[in-house]
Amino acid sequence: MSSAPHVAIVGVTGAVGQEFLRVLEQRNFPIGKLTLLASARSAGKTVDFKGTTYTVKELTEDSFGDVDLALFSAGGSISKKYAPIASDAGATVVDNSSAFRMIDSVPLVVPEVNPEAVEGIELGKGGIIANPNCSTIIMLVPVTPIHRRAGVKRMVVSTYQAASGAGAAAMAELELQTSEVLAGKEPTCDIFPRQYAFNLFSHNSDIIPEHGYNEEEYKMVCETHKIWKNSDVKITATCVRVPVMRAHAESINLELEQPLDADEARQLLSEAAGVRVVDDRVGNNFPTPLEASNEDDVLVGRIRNDISREGTKVTGLDLFVCGDQVRKGAALNAVQIAELLVK
Ligand SMILES: NC(=O)c1ccc[n+]([C@@H]2O[C@H](COP(=O)([O-])OP(=O)(O)OC[C@H]3O[C@@H](n4cnc5c(N)ncnc54)[C@H](OP(=O)(O)O)[C@@H]3O)[C@@H](O)[C@H]2O)c1
Repeated sequence: MSSAPHVAIVGVTGAVGQEFLRVLEQRNFPIGKLTLLASARSAGKTVDFKGTTYTVKELTEDSFGDVDLALFSAGGSISKKYAPIASDAGATVVDNSSAFRMIDSVPLVVPEVNPEAVEGIELGKGGIIANPNCSTIIMLVPVTPIHRRAGVKRMVVSTYQAASGAGAAAMAELELQTSEVLAGKEPTCDIFPRQYAFNLFSHNSDIIPEHGYNEEEYKMVCETHKIWKNSDVKITATCVRVPVMRAHAESINLELEQPLDADEARQLLSEAAGVRVVDDRVGNNFPTPLEASNEDDVLVGRIRNDISREGTKVTGLDLFVCGDQVRKGAALNAVQIAELLVK
């Protein structure tokens, strides 16, 4: 395609939709025409982008006439219905929901990890590409370079996930609850069924009856297998919501096929795309969600040999990572995917 693409954002009024606008502007993504879509509730609202005021339109089956790139972030059921309609109309879809991630023919892409997965897809010629789950992306950006060097045999991850991962309404509720609790009032629990402020709880996604993992945990397992094209890697995850406004944290333990110690891993990570090492043992300064917020890079620290493993060679590592999941976990990753398609 020769001219700048017609870009549509589906779910532009949401947490990810708003971040899309910031990322597209900051990265100066080429845009010939911009269409902003949300539900009927938002139709008529105005949004400023690069000095121009746009009016949000209601998403309908006719929204994608001459759209080349459709960035979807309006939830799984909207994607399931409208992404195929957009693709049939000729728009290339990058979808943030989980609706298409595990379909074999749909590429599941982290540009630092598997950019080759989008080969053959042309902007403006239809097709759906899935953005992985935010916790999966934040884990794989730093772990993949280690996997490529030393082979991950088994991975144990525990997450500390922010309110923003559950959307704009969850962020507003955390803020409201915090002031209510401080004022000695009963907290409003509309988004989550329990108090979130000054508390933490197991991730709010459904529990899968067969094994008791919740959907977020199971996504981290299945999506990693798909992205790495390797189902032999053993992965277990525990996902927890913490009362942080923005950016997820993860504690990651790796068992490796080949020896790799903490110093070698730190050096490797300091050269890895999309990663910033924050690993100051003397100053006890390591990644925090606040420092990771609004950052493109995933921050990684607490890089240390796992002393529970036996043997003279180091084949176990611990890491602590923080990444902005609205940004690298969603909007930025999707725009980076789109950049792979812009010739
Ligand atoms: N938040 C994250 O960190 C994150 C990370 C990765 C992936 N995701 C995924 O991205 C998607 C959006 O997440 P979010 O956090 O941005 O949610 P959000 O803040 O709740 O925003 C939802 C967006 O979807 C729109 N929407 C809802 N119903 C619609 C309808 N019937 N037709 C058209 N638009 C509709 C909303 O429009 P109105 O304002 O008009 O209601 C709003 O723009 C979800 O699939 C989520 O799983 C989110």
